[in-house]
Amino acid sequence: MSEIVNINGNLFPPEKAVISVFDHGLLFGDSVYEVLSTRKGRFYTVREHLERLFNSAKGINLVVPYGFEELEGEIKRTAAAAKNEDTYIRIIITRGVGDLNIDPSSCLKPQLIIFARKAIEYPEEFYSRGIELIVSTVRRNIPEALSPGLKTGNYLNNVLAIAEAVREGAHDGLMLSHDGFISECTTSNFFFVSDGTIKTPSLEVGILQGVTRRNILIVAEENGVPYEEGRYLPEDLALAEEAFVSSTTKNILPVTRISGRPVGDGHPGEITRRMMKLFELKLDELVGL
Ligand code: PDD
Repeated sequence: MSEIVNINGNLFPPEKAVISVFDHGLLFGDSVYEVLSTRKGRFYTVREHLERLFNSAKGINLVVPYGFEELEGEIKRTAAAAKNEDTYIRIIITRGVGDLNIDPSSCLKPQLIIFARKAIEYPEEFYSRGIELIVSTVRRNIPEALSPGLKTGNYLNNVLAIAEAVREGAHDGLMLSHDGFISECTTSNFFFVSDGTIKTPSLEVGILQGVTRRNILIVAEENGVPYEEGRYLPEDLALAEEAFVSSTTKNILPVTRISGRPVGDGHPGEITRRMMKLFELKLDELVGL
């Protein structure tokens, strides 16, 4: 079990993994990233994550100097060197080293950084009892400033939102869009159930198009579980019977309290538990088991 960091194709142990302080990724958050995971030792949805990485890069006019196959090869090589049963991968492409000012035109070579370490294991009781959210006072970005659909190194409002949630004794912050609609949590998408229907903010609200979210909606469709995407207000949560969040590292995690109030009866709901089971089966299908 170990951790390996790949910098521009060279593998390092964590204590030897260093980059220049003149990298605009560090100086200005001028970078893009993705988080992937393996399941039962196998990679899945690599293409979806790399597609989103290239899309994020395009969104900030960053030309990725690698092809798809090359990046996939580097991810797998780094994971193999780290030798964990299941691997957490964080792949970052920064603007690269440049002058000490925000103009990116001095940055001639983007840097590739890939972290491979043991996959995150959230405590079992998060899944059996659910987690608590607060509705954050910190909002997601207005798309015309920086699209929440891009996974960039510019996550400072999300950093502030999770810090606020932790300060208030919750696990995560549910962030609203600039115009007050429910958007997503700091590193996961959000769903709630009312009238027996799964409801999740639509992409137009200004959220990251989660790979897990997309597969959850496919699972709902395949199994005849009613769902809808739309624009919802925090007041709509008063009627929520259930809620859950999703991400690559968490899969489906029930939410049982929001801003100090129980969701439904305060336990993971029936539809949530059904979706958790169905999603596990979908993951096995995705890894080819
Ligand atoms: N976060 N929304 C935001 C803002 C995210 O950062 C993420 C992913 C998601 C879920 O996307 P996906 O299902 O593709 O993982 C939604 C990763 C896990 C992270 O930053 O660690």
